[in-house]
Amino acid sequence: MDSILVTGGGPLSGTIPIAGAKNACLTLMPATLLSDEPLTLTNAPRLSDIRTMTSLLESLGAEVSSLSDGLVIAMSSHALNGARADYDIVRKMRASILVLGPLLARLGEAVVSLPGGCAIGARPVDLHLKALEAMGAELDLRDGYVHAKAPKGGLRGGTFEFPFVSVGATENALMAATLARGTTVLKNAAREPEIVDLGHCLQAMGAQIDGLGTSTITIEGVDRLHGATHRVVTDRIELGSYMVAPLIAGGEVTCAGGRRDLLEAFCQKLEAAGAEITESDAGLTVRRAGERMRAVDVTTEPFPGFPTDLQAQMMAMLCTAEGASHLEEKIFENRFMHAPELIRMGAHVDVRGGSAHVIGTDRLRGAQVMATDLRASFSLILAGLAAEGTTKVGRVYHLDRGYERVVQKLSGVGAQIARVSDDG
Ligand code: EPZ
Repeated sequence: MDSILVTGGGPLSGTIPIAGAKNACLTLMPATLLSDEPLTLTNAPRLSDIRTMTSLLESLGAEVSSLSDGLVIAMSSHALNGARADYDIVRKMRASILVLGPLLARLGEAVVSLPGGCAIGARPVDLHLKALEAMGAELDLRDGYVHAKAPKGGLRGGTFEFPFVSVGATENALMAATLARGTTVLKNAAREPEIVDLGHCLQAMGAQIDGLGTSTITIEGVDRLHGATHRVVTDRIELGSYMVAPLIAGGEVTCAGGRRDLLEAFCQKLEAAGAEITESDAGLTVRRAGERMRAVDVTTEPFPGFPTDLQAQMMAMLCTAEGASHLEEKIFENRFMHAPELIRMGAHVDVRGGSAHVIGTDRLRGAQVMATDLRASFSLILAGLAAEGTTKVGRVYHLDRGYERVVQKLSGVGAQIARVSDDG
């Protein structure tokens, strides 16, 4: 296992390239299953989760080629050899459940392992299943697998209102509906940019979709989808993660490719805390207006609200801000695991259920800490940039799931950071 060493130091300066969105790519890749023609993705991120999704698609008989140093993923599903997504792959990555809708729509059947929970919560898939049932799917849960069957003649259009917003369930339903006979209406659908990006790709493949980016998405099913080439949208979570770096360490950083419309609520919150954010053709340039950031309160919500995937990074910044902040995590039931690790660095954080109270300090100290989940791991690196001395972040395999080339990107703007093997 590897660790990352980061030493608090001077201000940062320079440009950080932002990659394509992991959470868009993980739903764009299963979309290849909807067509027997090639689907090619450009601006793909180089991440372990992408490699896991590649293995899953190949286990179903799809051909997946990684080209141009991983930036291009060329896929073809003309000859699928089965409709079973095994537990040993699905348990590694919850997004594997996103092959369920496409397989059901294309082959009329699917056997997909239930993903199981993860560190941040139980993360059930009941809404994925209910939405597919609204299109006529018959689902039987046994032996830890979803056994799904479409009606004779295939899925049919239906109307489904999500009781609360679910990104993945919206994605599964959207993909399945593109080949369902008739009209499907998804109400209280997720509005995340990754959903819009998936919708644009499906439209390029010939799907008939209206309402992308709104809470009501209407899909007219078509008989088949053709191939396409699609550029993966910029990763707004990687973007937001790096925007915090100069606010914690000082200096000025430009996040290349960053667009404010991808995370407007987050930008407003950063500005309320004392950030200066400038948008230009180069991307988003971020600096601290004063010597220290100010405390602000944060509540996570579905898009366009404050993203849950940036809550841990925001907490790290608030741990160094002037004053007391209050954070409410409304999306997942256990997403404050970074707090005890930040406390080891001298942060003042009091967690009670889904709420966290932070009192900022300018005296974080380097310590040995442990990454518990993907976004928590990045928040510990951010805290290390502000801490006195060196912080050692263990279990960075979490980081590799969602962030590429972190050491290169941060050292490129002057951070003192290195990756070391724990195997001596
Ligand atoms: C996606 O997860 C993202 N993952 C998550 O990013 C992100 O945090 C989340 O959306 C919210 O924005 C990918 O896109 C691969 P949900 P997803 O369905 O689809 C509950 C990261 O760090 N729920 O919107 O699984 C669920 O437990 C990851 O990149 C049900 O109860 O999220 C959660 O509490 C972490 N039943 C809430 O809804 C369901 O059927 C929102 O989950 C589905 C979800």
